[in-house]
Amino acid sequence: MKNTHIKTSSSADTFKIGRKLGESLFSKSGDSYIIALDGELGSGKTVFVSGLAAGIGIKEPVLSPSFTIVKEYGGSRYNLYHIDLYRLSSPSDLMSFDFYEYAGREASITAIEWANKFGETFFFPKVPTIFVNFKNIEELSETDYLRSIDLKFENFSDARIEKLLEEL
Ligand SMILES: Nc1ncnc2c1ncn2[C@@H]1O[C@H](COP(=O)(O)OP(=O)(O)O)[C@@H](O)[C@H]1O
Ligand SMILES: [Mg+2]
Repeated sequence: MKNTHIKTSSSADTFKIGRKLGESLFSKSGDSYIIALDGELGSGKTVFVSGLAAGIGIKEPVLSPSFTIVKEYGGSRYNLYHIDLYRLSSPSDLMSFDFYEYAGREASITAIEWANKFGETFFFPKVPTIFVNFKNIEELSETDYLRSIDLKFENFSDARIEKLLEEL
């Protein structure tokens, strides 16, 4: 597993990282990916996924799925399944909305907020997965916070990771 570390100092900055990642994943169509996001409430997970959606050409605004648990967005080359586990109380709740049916569908990106809520719940051994972890470093102003974003890549070729990182 390869990893990298990025710092952002505003919501727009985090959006841009998500968008760039979406753009570079988008350049290779047909595959499926999982983006597993973690970090405390308000740390930027939804902002990041909004950027990702913009990067894969989804025009609709992306809103937090914490009440609906899952939202589906149709893109021209990828569908985005945006899932939020925050409000679930046990791993068995994952069955209540076909969680395991989403990840790995063709031409899809499944973005999961609070992915670690139930520990290592994810067994998608062959699906390229990016684990994204957000940490709050310090308050820069009333609206802007310095965040650190850790990205870990699993089931990507080294060449693919190099290329993705160059584009971020
Ligand atoms: N560097 C930053 N990156 C992302 N969001 C930031 C940053 N600085 C401030 N913010 C603010 O933090 C909040 C992040 O919200 P959100 O993405 O919904 O969090 P989460 O989905 O992790 O609960 C937004 O209100 C955003 O404007
Ligand atoms: Mg959120």
